[in-house]
Amino acid sequence: MQKTLKSHGTWIGKWTFVLAATGSAVGLGNIWGFPYKAGTEGGGAFVLIYLLCIVLIGLPIMLSEILIGRRSGNSPINSMKKSAIDSDVSSAWQGVGWIGISAGILILSFYSVIAGICLKYIFVSASSNDLDTAGQFLSIVNSPKELMLWHTIFMGLTMFIVSAGVKKGIGRMVKILMPMLGLLLIFMVVYGIINGAFKEALSFLFKPDFTKITSDTFLVAMGQAFFSLSLGMGSIMAYGAYMSKDQNIASTSVSVGALDTLVAIMAGLAVFPIIFAIQGLEASRGPGLVFISLQTAFNTMDFGNIIGPIFFILLSVAALSSSISILEPGVAYLAEERYFSRTKSAIIISITCWLIGIGTAFGFDQDGNNFFQANVELISVNIMQPLGGMLIAIFIGWFMKESLIKNELGSINQAIYQIWRVFIKFVAPIGVGIVLISQLF
Ligand code: PHE
Repeated sequence: MQKTLKSHGTWIGKWTFVLAATGSAVGLGNIWGFPYKAGTEGGGAFVLIYLLCIVLIGLPIMLSEILIGRRSGNSPINSMKKSAIDSDVSSAWQGVGWIGISAGILILSFYSVIAGICLKYIFVSASSNDLDTAGQFLSIVNSPKELMLWHTIFMGLTMFIVSAGVKKGIGRMVKILMPMLGLLLIFMVVYGIINGAFKEALSFLFKPDFTKITSDTFLVAMGQAFFSLSLGMGSIMAYGAYMSKDQNIASTSVSVGALDTLVAIMAGLAVFPIIFAIQGLEASRGPGLVFISLQTAFNTMDFGNIIGPIFFILLSVAALSSSISILEPGVAYLAEERYFSRTKSAIIISITCWLIGIGTAFGFDQDGNNFFQANVELISVNIMQPLGGMLIAIFIGWFMKESLIKNELGSINQAIYQIWRVFIKFVAPIGVGIVLISQLF
């Protein structure tokens, strides 16, 4: 097998992996997904479960994915295969990579439509002072022609960058634009503190009301944790393949996870004060929540017609640095096996995502809910990502040779190593297992 594989180079700068992984993690999941799901799932209790999932399940799996990816230096399918063969266990473990690629195609199909809405909002917020922001959102999503246009543009951009190779460009893009997005988010939070119902937002997000928990809350919170950290479907593993050997995998995982969580919480603190300050807007508004809330803020603040477009440009870039990482595992595989050139591979998978995305573009109803998108998200984000993550945890915890693992981790602190072992062997797979199985009943 080895001889057919093209070896990958490493990232150019020492920090490029952290930047790229953060670029992958921080995206629509944080700013669009987290607030709207916190809203529909009832707030504090959801947030608490989400945070637990990040720490107990997400971080241990992130470490594992980076480790497997970096050790092999291949696409996720072949990294899993190589690790399995080197551990003298069945090469069928590469199936985890296949689940990941399938999940990625489904995720990107709707991700691109939502990112397209962000692109559209660059122009909306530059020109409109329409105070009926909910109506405005509905009129946009109820125009499939409009959504298809922006979906096509976003998918095209993603395809273009991935076919050129993710190593070129995104490091620089992320280094400049992500801090800017962070600053603008801080600005929005401050705006919410001054002009919004900040206290209500705080208690909504951080005062858990356990009567609102259902088995669904666990499924959505866990899926959201996997989605936001880009785990369980190969993105982080694919990027790990480009990570240089002298970097510390454990501390890198923690940095990426912490940054990602911080951005999600800030997005919540930017969105909810505005929602609670306006009559008639409800936290459980669904996928339109962020657009409606933030656009309301831009419409009422000074220079909103300038700050708004800048915000949506930065959000679109954050979405783009995530979407390329969703596309990367599949493209890396097809190109590495030399089935097609990198460009052709990117075109083939992108067209597949684009086609499935049509369902989402045409799927919004009069209230802004989207049955098609919700179900694609349920299957890919809430089921396939955790399933993929669970299998990775079981593989590295129970089947991969420990000597290979220790070799890759180098001089890791023993206590941290032991804690990680317990989490990856027991806590993560059992946690995911319970949540998934409880859905069957
Ligand atoms: N983590 C990205 C976000 O929050 C989405 C993503 C999912 C990226 C899965 C890669 C893999 O927007």
